[in-house]
Amino acid sequence: MSFLNDVKTRRSVRTFDGNDVEPEVLKDLEEFAAKIENPYGIPVRFKFLNAKEYGLSSPVLSGEKLYVSAMMKKGKHAEEAYGYSFEALLVHAHKLGLGTVWIGGTMPRDKFEKASDLTEGELMPCVSPLGKAADKMGVKETLMRKGVGADKRFDFGTLFFKGSFDTPLSENDARKCGIYEALEAVRWAPSAVNKQPWRIVVCGNVAHVYEKHDKGYINENYDLQKIDIGIALYRLEQGILDAGKTPKFICKDPGIIIPSQVDYVASIEF
Ligand SMILES: Cc1cc2nc3c(=O)[nH]c(=O)nc-3n(C[C@H](O)[C@H](O)[C@H](O)COP(=O)(O)O)c2cc1C
Repeated sequence: MSFLNDVKTRRSVRTFDGNDVEPEVLKDLEEFAAKIENPYGIPVRFKFLNAKEYGLSSPVLSGEKLYVSAMMKKGKHAEEAYGYSFEALLVHAHKLGLGTVWIGGTMPRDKFEKASDLTEGELMPCVSPLGKAADKMGVKETLMRKGVGADKRFDFGTLFFKGSFDTPLSENDARKCGIYEALEAVRWAPSAVNKQPWRIVVCGNVAHVYEKHDKGYINENYDLQKIDIGIALYRLEQGILDAGKTPKFICKDPGIIIPSQVDYVASIEF
């Protein structure tokens, strides 16, 4: 199964079947989580939380029995590292047959933080439930998906460019460079309110990744959309690996002229 197929068969799951995650599946997740690394070398701590034991719930979820919270320390590139590492775990959970959804807002944050035993300086931007999806989506879930257009994404040429932000990258161009599937894996990534803030300019064999800011996603501690970019970086890198190429992570602004509200984040050579 290709990486693109893995991520295209994923969607956010908010209605669960009400069963516990099997102990051997949880063990697999815990072992996987303990080994996750990111290109920034910034630690991300995970904690698996039994919903009943800690009295945890979320207004957008039903039937979930288990959560995972993820913690980081505030700092340069912390959000990208966080998005990258947490996405690695959630893609793995999907491969194990579990439903997940990034939750960065719709939760009683203080309860989750308390259950996660935050240490000095730690932040817990997001959590996710883990469990088997129910056969049928709840009405609330269906309405939420409609509200944010969750089954749709921007066109390829709106997100990806060739040489500069003036020239859209066609699917054919991407195929010629051997990164069409990697870019599709990015295009279908989850993002806060489905804003899809990633923009990528491909120059030769380097993909430069940028963040297009929307209003209201930055608080005093972190930029939620930069977490989205971390998710995109993970998918881009895995997609390039899956194409049999060797991705090389670089963090050096190439100086390409940027539109307003857009910032450089990182590059991946392929
Ligand atoms: C960083 C981040 C934060 C999110 N926060 C929430 C949230 O608080 N509540 C929620 O229901 N969904 C949340 N989502 C899920 C998005 O709404 C969802 O990924 C998007 O609508 C696309 O749908 P899909 O994941 O089914 O493809 C979040 C996603 C990301 C990446």
